[in-house]
Amino acid sequence: MLALPLGGKVALVTGAGRGIGREVALRLARDGAKIVAHYSASKQGAEEVVEEIISHGGDARAFGADVTSARQVGSLFQDIDSSFGALDIVVNCAGLSGGGALQDLDPEQAMRLFAVNTLGPLYVASEAAKRLGEGGRIINFGSTLADFPVAGAGVYSAAKSAIKSFTESWAKDLGSKGITVNTVIPGATSPGMFDRTPEPYRELFENASPFKRVGTATEIAAVVAFLASPEASWVSGAHIRANGAASA
Ligand SMILES: NC(=O)c1ccc[n+]([C@@H]2O[C@H](COP(=O)([O-])OP(=O)(O)OC[C@H]3O[C@@H](n4cnc5c(N)ncnc54)[C@H](OP(=O)(O)O)[C@@H]3O)[C@@H](O)[C@H]2O)c1
Repeated sequence: MLALPLGGKVALVTGAGRGIGREVALRLARDGAKIVAHYSASKQGAEEVVEEIISHGGDARAFGADVTSARQVGSLFQDIDSSFGALDIVVNCAGLSGGGALQDLDPEQAMRLFAVNTLGPLYVASEAAKRLGEGGRIINFGSTLADFPVAGAGVYSAAKSAIKSFTESWAKDLGSKGITVNTVIPGATSPGMFDRTPEPYRELFENASPFKRVGTATEIAAVVAFLASPEASWVSGAHIRANGAASA
């Protein structure tokens, strides 16, 4: 029998109960990884992902945590320690979109956007850095909107811009341990947060790529699968756009 690329590896996927994270969890499981399907509100979705993986002969468990709470993220990693006793791959997929006109700033929403999109991946990566070893992987999620901001989404774009700095810094922090750190940068993607995009942004994003369509979560998961694989051992500190050359 042929060996699977992620056979014997344990992968944490944050936000695995729906959207892109769900597809990433299923893809990494197909590639042989044991999956920690993390959720916050989507417990049922994460449990369905686990059932699907187990029904195909894989191994997975679902654990909840609000990634904006360092304490809850610490408990999540303790759950991983007791259930799997190892961790090789971390996909920081959980994220939150939102926005509004600059003059209508909602400070609480702005704090929440920074907390989920910036502090969340930081808390997760810090715990991961205590556990990952040679061949380890951290895959962060940026956004095309950080590279090409649009009116009304400045806070989201700024929060996602921080991810590139994290990736480049953490790649240097962890390279000496043989761990790679990279960013995947989706454009508008379905299933995922694009599905809840209001007009006129919906039409803008649908036409932002010369392919004149949005991406699929499966297409994003394929890029994550490459970065998670042993094939990507010399790719670190990189930001990979998976957006059909979109400029919004
Ligand atoms: N889809 C797109 O168009 C698009 C474009 C560019 C970048 N991205 C990025 O891709 C990643 C995945 O997005 P998506 O499209 O899959 O979005 P989504 O369908 O809206 O899902 C968001 C995920 O983030 C999790 N999450 C949100 N707040 C959380 C919190 N406080 N604690 C823990 N988990 C939390 C959610 O978990 P629960 O449901 O369990 O709460 C959910 O699984 C995000 O980082 C996003 O910024 C997406």
